[in-house]
Amino acid sequence: MSRYVFDNSADQAQGRFFALESCYDPFSRRQVELTGLTRGWRCLEVGGGGGSLGDWLGEQVGPDGEVTVTDLDLRWAESRPRPPHVRLLRHDIVKDPLPADGYDLVHARLVLQHLPERLDVLARLAGALRPGGWLVLEEFDISWTPVLAAPGEEAAALFERVHTALRTQLEKVGLDPVWGRRVPGAMLGAGLADVTATTYAESWAGGGTGIGLHRVNAQQMADRLRAEGLTDAELDRFQALTADPSFVVNSLPLVSTRGRRP
Ligand SMILES: C[S@@+](CC[C@H](N)C(=O)[O-])C[C@H]1O[C@@H](n2cnc3c(N)ncnc32)[C@H](O)[C@@H]1O
Repeated sequence: MSRYVFDNSADQAQGRFFALESCYDPFSRRQVELTGLTRGWRCLEVGGGGGSLGDWLGEQVGPDGEVTVTDLDLRWAESRPRPPHVRLLRHDIVKDPLPADGYDLVHARLVLQHLPERLDVLARLAGALRPGGWLVLEEFDISWTPVLAAPGEEAAALFERVHTALRTQLEKVGLDPVWGRRVPGAMLGAGLADVTATTYAESWAGGGTGIGLHRVNAQQMADRLRAEGLTDAELDRFQALTADPSFVVNSLPLVSTRGRRP
């Protein structure tokens, strides 16, 4: 069962999509371009969230191509104007039949990571490709997020505590925190060829865009973090750290993996 905890109806969703798009879209676009994406392609964007990559795919494939952007909740993608060849579809990738098959490209970023059924979903997505079509999955490996600078040892220790508590709670609802590193093996297991992975990370300073992802995630998970023993004062201190330029942490590393249907 899908138990997606970062519900798009929450106040924090807009901040999440802003941080994801600002930090990762340039990298994601480059990785997708490496598949040979071109005009006329038929693409499926799974769990498209704010919709920025779906719109960009639409620009790349042009009106002779088509892009279907799916999500459980499309409210943020719907708020953007788009051409007719980019279609939005309310859809649960775990339960609903795929909208079509024979895709040139299927892309999903930070979606399967949340789904306990990720291996079955991956196999279905691979099966929806035309021969030679590409599956591109981009997922975090949240195991390497060193603090790079901090105003004091207590700040670095608090970040570690919150990050560990968040990871524990997310694992309880079925998220695989290191799914990013498992995707290449899963793609090979699903029979895909030419599997390649590239990882992107950068530094995130307090007050910057990227660290906003930690800020909104901790806000949206506050009750669950309290259940892990964090106090309100510690959660407030964590929020303050994410606004403090003297606090710098490694970003959540995004592993982008692509594989081709033989
Ligand atoms: C972390 S967000 C990532 C959004 C976007 N892919 C990005 O990287 O900017 C995960 C998205 O997957 C969607 N999602 C979660 N479970 C889903 C499911 N079972 N089927 C379709 N979409 C799902 C969520 O609604 C959310 O928009």
